[in-house]
Amino acid sequence: MTDVAHLTEAQALDELTRLADEIAAHDIRYYREDAPTISDADYDTLKRRNSEIESRFPHLVRENSPSLRVGAARSEQFAPVEHGVPMLSLDNAFSDEDAAEFDARVRRFLRLGEEPVAYTAEPKIDGLSCSIRYENGVLVQAATRGDGRIGEDVTANVRTLAEIPKRLAGSGWPQVIEVRGEVYLGHEEFIAMNAAAEAAGQRTYANPRNAAAGSLRQIDPKITAARPLRFFAYAWGLISAPFAESQWEALQALKAWGFRITPQSRRIAGVEGLLEAYRLMEAERPKLVFDIDGVVYKVDRLDWQQRLGFVSRAPRWGVARKFPAEQARTILEAIDIQVGRTGAVTPVARLQPVTVGGVVVVNATLHNADEIARKDLRIGDTVILQRAGDVIPQVVGVVADEPRGPEPYVFPSHCPCPLHTPLVRETTASGAETVVRRCSGEFACPFQKLAHLRHFVSRRAFDIEGLGEKQLVAFIERGWLNTPADIFRLHEKRAELLETERYGETSVRNLLDNIEARRTIPLDRFIYGLGIRHIGETTAVVMARGYGAVGDFLAAMDKVADRDPAAIEELDNLDQIGTAVIEAAASYFAEDHNRGVVQDLVGELTILDAEQPKQDTAVAGKTVVFTGALEKLTRDEAKAQAERLGAKVSGSVSKKTDLVVAGPGAGSKLKTAAELGIQVLTEDEWLDLVRGG
Ligand code: IVH
Repeated sequence: MTDVAHLTEAQALDELTRLADEIAAHDIRYYREDAPTISDADYDTLKRRNSEIESRFPHLVRENSPSLRVGAARSEQFAPVEHGVPMLSLDNAFSDEDAAEFDARVRRFLRLGEEPVAYTAEPKIDGLSCSIRYENGVLVQAATRGDGRIGEDVTANVRTLAEIPKRLAGSGWPQVIEVRGEVYLGHEEFIAMNAAAEAAGQRTYANPRNAAAGSLRQIDPKITAARPLRFFAYAWGLISAPFAESQWEALQALKAWGFRITPQSRRIAGVEGLLEAYRLMEAERPKLVFDIDGVVYKVDRLDWQQRLGFVSRAPRWGVARKFPAEQARTILEAIDIQVGRTGAVTPVARLQPVTVGGVVVVNATLHNADEIARKDLRIGDTVILQRAGDVIPQVVGVVADEPRGPEPYVFPSHCPCPLHTPLVRETTASGAETVVRRCSGEFACPFQKLAHLRHFVSRRAFDIEGLGEKQLVAFIERGWLNTPADIFRLHEKRAELLETERYGETSVRNLLDNIEARRTIPLDRFIYGLGIRHIGETTAVVMARGYGAVGDFLAAMDKVADRDPAAIEELDNLDQIGTAVIEAAASYFAEDHNRGVVQDLVGELTILDAEQPKQDTAVAGKTVVFTGALEKLTRDEAKAQAERLGAKVSGSVSKKTDLVVAGPGAGSKLKTAAELGIQVLTEDEWLDLVRGG
């Protein structure tokens, strides 16, 4: 990777664009789906690189920069709740030097003399933050963080948590207070919950944090109630009156009102105090029954916190000192090749079992052939393994002073599937080679078949509970499942299913009921479920809205496959759809086999037309451009809202633009709007205009 100091402006722009997309995708997986795909440490590295490039090229800071955002926009399954005071994030510190710099910055800002500053050092609980509003001591509302400004209403779920008082105890609480803290799961509860889910063929979670988030964000509070979620209070948002003079006093007050506070919290002073508290927490960590991923330092005096205030999305008065990823050494015993849904192959390290951070690790992803070559990994090498607050471990590199494996690893030239197809390196639209290698066997490759079916039944696609990997493998082996349509014919196998000793009557009934419930499906989920490359959830929604009904969608895809210029133009004109999607759709529908699979599936289903944006609103049919920083809405929310109300959102101002919504920092677009005489609204005026729409 090029050193930030050596990047040209064009490279920096390119990288910031890529980082923004990559980080946004990870945010969605982490915050909304509770299923991250990279380690926290790798995520922090991406964010740090983004910030470093931005500080060298401040004029390139994007309006939607990851450094200006907390979390991901909330899920639409829950009602929105506007926090009385935004729920912000903390900046990270990674070393003793960073901690000392934090202290120095606090002192500089407050212009303090020699006197050491008092801080609290609290364990950084690895769960999800939650804000609980009490009025006159009674719990009235609870919300997740969401994008920091607007969270998800999880009141009914939070009421089921035994550790959250429904009514505050004691006295002295403000008439209105948003109590904030972390919802989490203990280690033992997490293991028991996953074991039970696995046995029932339901989804399991990678770590306690995701399990806690997934358990709290349930539509049915009965499910939340059955999960042993716990809560530590450590902060507050809106308050109608002050109730403490220091963070320490505030923690004691929260405790007196009936909350649990972390017993490992300390009050300390000066840099020595910060460093010692970190060492103590590191030593305590293995004995704790819940996950922590660092220490949170906070200036103790609340009047000082007030003066220090915030910079963009994080306070100056606090910082999160993160633990480094946990590492261990082990032997690389073999490298297996896994084939994904689209045929992309991923090398997986098979390791001599080793414990890292309390978990026995036997596999780790090696990403791709280039990574193996770059690290010169050889079978038989002693490697360093790393886990960072998650379950997907990484191979960091080879231990050079141990005996090395005898030969360099040669990446297989053919797929390990029975078809043994040559693996081809994928190229981008411009012809450049990428790191991805692919098997071209498609549905005939049993690995791809399984991966395809797994995608099809997954939560965001057809969401068929009870049809996990184990069941899919068993049904494929018996020859009952080949393509998605076969799932909807499994009821014909009821008798055989009941005969096998592993399926009881209730589980067979539940499975078949779950399948029946999905026979009627919205068009966007159907499109997403097909698992076509580059057609993710958002693109599927755009396509569903664009074509409206399944018949129109399929007719258009046939024409796209035949390279009909009008059909390609129609697809291209849909918002956010570019060459990658067009190419992927064209090559998918050009395959007779795929057309057959889709037709067969359509025959089994009732596919609902896409919900169309409204036509009778103040902005229906208008073209809107958002520019500058929005303060009450995220860009994505603003865009989704406008589109729901029938407007078209564009990225640039032209004669076709009807409205420009400008926030602080709006630049050239505002000027163009003025030149063209286009109406310009503030964010508040926009909200007034669309309210009730
Ligand atoms: S105080 C302005 N205290 O860490 C933010 N946060 O990166 C004030 N967290 O969103 C947050 N333990 O989910 C605070 N003792 C603690 C914490 C804690 C865990 C989480 C929380 C927050 C994130 C900040």
